[in-house]
Amino acid sequence: MVLLDGKQLSNQIKDKLKNEVIELKNKGIEPCLAVILVGEDNASITYVNSKARACEQCGIKSLVYKLDVNTTQNELFALINTLNHDDSVDGILVQLPLPKHINKDMILESISFNKDVDGFHPFNVGNLNLNLRGGFLPCTPLGVMKLLKHYSIKLEGADVVVIGASNIVGRPMATLLLNANASVSICHIYTKDLKAYTKNADVIIVAAGCPDLLKEDMVKDGVVVVDVGINRVNGKIVGDVDFDNVSKKTSFITPVPGGVGPMTIAMLLENTIKSAKNRVQV
Ligand code: GUN
Repeated sequence: MVLLDGKQLSNQIKDKLKNEVIELKNKGIEPCLAVILVGEDNASITYVNSKARACEQCGIKSLVYKLDVNTTQNELFALINTLNHDDSVDGILVQLPLPKHINKDMILESISFNKDVDGFHPFNVGNLNLNLRGGFLPCTPLGVMKLLKHYSIKLEGADVVVIGASNIVGRPMATLLLNANASVSICHIYTKDLKAYTKNADVIIVAAGCPDLLKEDMVKDGVVVVDVGINRVNGKIVGDVDFDNVSKKTSFITPVPGGVGPMTIAMLLENTIKSAKNRVQV
């Protein structure tokens, strides 16, 4: 069994990005990411802080807006509008989830698609679904693809099961895998017999937010398992996979933490730098 070491790969990527930032700065461009957090969800605060820290590590400027939970939708629109028109800002990220009084879809659509480093704008989602190049791809699924590629895991013709159908992970993940010529099944909360899918899968991506969802008897020998889950159980961070038992049968598996999480952040930095390069067409 080989661990898919996202921490190590993300460090390699960040080293490469640091050099790209130096080159951009030599040309007078300072890449800049604006991160907006509304409210005080503890997990979101942690994520936003790690995104800002990672920016600093790579020389990317970060602007972090921590807004009160009672911020109105119009106030949020106004901030996004200002950032959309600010030529020194390359990327805009609104941390999800948003409070219930704010319409998430309208907010995501209001971000300029060419600053949408999360890849959540309908224009970028459309590009992904049409398998067109050029747009921004969502960071977590993109990070998973990079990790699989780094370990030379073949996707063409592979039977892949994605568990979870969220807009952030499951759906774009399934589309990227389809674009890589895998046969993809998307399973979710209404799936009648999850094991019937997972038992035959060559690759399983689990993004359900449910600890111990994937168990040893649900997978075949030699399977590749990618665990996107981040759950806090008794003060410990665990994924969606019963790692100790499932890993006995896997050829490759991600650890949690240290698998997909660091790759997500590396892809956010990569998208921000891509946007900064678009700014000057370098
Ligand atoms: N909440 C959980 N994951 C993400 C993500 O990748 N981007 C944003 N903006 N919010 C999230």
